[in-house]
Amino acid sequence: MTDGTPILHMKDVRFQWPGRASFSLEVPSFEAGRGEKVLLLGESGSGKSTLLSLICGTIAADAGDVTIDGTRLSDLSGGARDQFRAETIGVIFQQFNLLPFGSVVDNILLPLRFAPERRARVSDARAEAAALSLALGLPDVQTAKAATLSVGQQQRVAVARALIGRPPLIIADEPTSALDANSQAAFLDLLFDQVRAHDTTLLIVSHDARLGERFDRVVQMADIARTTERAA
Ligand SMILES: Nc1ncnc2c1ncn2[C@@H]1O[C@H](COP(=O)(O)OP(=O)(O)OP(=O)(O)O)[C@@H](O)[C@H]1O
Ligand SMILES: [Mg+2]
Repeated sequence: MTDGTPILHMKDVRFQWPGRASFSLEVPSFEAGRGEKVLLLGESGSGKSTLLSLICGTIAADAGDVTIDGTRLSDLSGGARDQFRAETIGVIFQQFNLLPFGSVVDNILLPLRFAPERRARVSDARAEAAALSLALGLPDVQTAKAATLSVGQQQRVAVARALIGRPPLIIADEPTSALDANSQAAFLDLLFDQVRAHDTTLLIVSHDARLGERFDRVVQMADIARTTERAA
């Protein structure tokens, strides 16, 4: 769809971790356009991961709206939100969250199990997993258990898993933090090749401003969010 509506729209969002009144996050307005590549920078503890959890719908805003691909998350029940996330968002976690005893292919195919629409976009899931493995430089380890992979290989499996079935939005929380500068550049080259090919929106969180030049837009957490951190 290229109807000009943003893939992500946040309006007057407020959130507090339950039982933890000392930290609160407010996002008056934040958007990402379809196909836009956005880098979100901010210091440790500024609420970046909290913001991503609000976008993924793993936590619910106390007030305001988070709208993804035209759907307001607060209109969905918990189960429907999990389903919506599986269909719409490819998530790359900082620790990758791979199934250690699953093979590379098993891990790449995992999201399709919970997302029939995403599954339907892939005619042959195993062939697609193999193609992504090849594109991401993993062809020799497809049957290897995730636990036996190097960190860089695990990172690429996490990318393939986020990309399979072409969700319109990819979100990554500090995906390059464990890599040296060369591996970091190679990793981002691979990720950008893939998301460009499908006009996928990419939102990456980092504290490393040097990554900025590759992105359409660099956003500072301090410019979109107000946080309060009070002594408890
Ligand atoms: N599950 C949780 N329960 C309670 N408080 C939390 C939880 N996760 C984060 N917080 C608090 O929310 C605040 C923001 O944390 P968050 O993890 O969003 O920051 P961040 O910007 O991602 O930091 P980092 O760069 O270190 O990853 C911190 O004060 C943190 O202690
Ligand atoms: Mg974080």
